[in-house]
Amino acid sequence: MPAGKILIIGGSGFVSGTLARTARDQGYAVWVLTRGQKPLPEGVVPLRADRKDPAAFKAAVIGANVHWDLVVDCIGYKVEDARQDLEVFPALTSHLVFISTDFVFDPARRSFPQPFDNPATLTDDTYGGKKRHCELELLQADVGDMQWTVFRPCHIYGPGSELGCLPDALRVSGLLRKIKAGEPLRLVGGGHFLQQPIFAPDLAALILSVRENAMANRKIYCSVGPDIVESATYYRMIADELGAGLQVEELPIIQALKAHPEWKFYLCHRIYDLTPLRLDGLKVPNTPLREGLRQHVRWLEAR
Ligand SMILES: NC(=O)c1ccc[n+]([C@@H]2O[C@H](COP(=O)([O-])OP(=O)(O)OC[C@H]3O[C@@H](n4cnc5c(N)ncnc54)[C@H](OP(=O)(O)O)[C@@H]3O)[C@@H](O)[C@H]2O)c1
Repeated sequence: MPAGKILIIGGSGFVSGTLARTARDQGYAVWVLTRGQKPLPEGVVPLRADRKDPAAFKAAVIGANVHWDLVVDCIGYKVEDARQDLEVFPALTSHLVFISTDFVFDPARRSFPQPFDNPATLTDDTYGGKKRHCELELLQADVGDMQWTVFRPCHIYGPGSELGCLPDALRVSGLLRKIKAGEPLRLVGGGHFLQQPIFAPDLAALILSVRENAMANRKIYCSVGPDIVESATYYRMIADELGAGLQVEELPIIQALKAHPEWKFYLCHRIYDLTPLRLDGLKVPNTPLREGLRQHVRWLEAR
């Protein structure tokens, strides 16, 4: 008997692939829906469709003829994606999870630590604003007996991705080589912005822990790691792992914002309180940042 049945929208990407492997390793029977462009994790059942083609999407999930314990939409970016989930999944699952982002918060109106119910969210045409529209769609929908939960991760790291959490060193390939060579990393504000990165396998375990948990129904959680650090410390831990020293070149904030207004989402403290996860009995992320970065660096070096 499998631990449960899960469908992942996505399933071969960084976050969605980590979720697929974690669920499989926990004994779930795992279905993944992708366009079939990337290799899939071993042991999953593939469903092939482009979600932007609503008829093909519907045919693929209904055609699987399964009632899933969990459906996790890892690749919902627009309100149409949330509407698609709400149209199709109430009949096909007991619990829908939607992956949002902490960029739903207005960077200029944060409080510290930022509570999940800070009303200062965006509803504009940015990545975060569109994710907030997806959340609102869930909040306003009549979904019958289906439960739903939203997670808002901050910077996610771990095997399967490049490293780097702050401009101008955001997920840069060649980051390890640069640090080892003693080349300075250009960090806005010298890297003093606080962050709380989450290790991708911790996020996967957290998502799976909503199953059969009525406390998580109709909830939106900020989902972050256990350690609050300055962004520069994140890079320093990577340098430590490489046995190198970290050289930082400070990019003045005003100058950086002038040249790259879109960086404003990164240029604020991104710290949150894990208490709501704890109180609702969810699996609280607990991999220390140093340990997670060690695993990530080893994976990058072996690649
Ligand atoms: N990385 C971060 O720090 C961070 C922070 C906060 C939130 N998030 C959220 O985390 C999620 C990222 O998920 P991810 O890492 O798995 O993404 P990803 O690495 O971009 O992978 C995308 C996955 O979806 C599939 N896919 C893409 N377009 C599709 C389509 N039109 N129809 C069907 N399948 C499609 C891809 O496979 P095919 O190409 O084969 O179709 C792949 O499996 C997003 O919701 C993002 O907002 C990320």
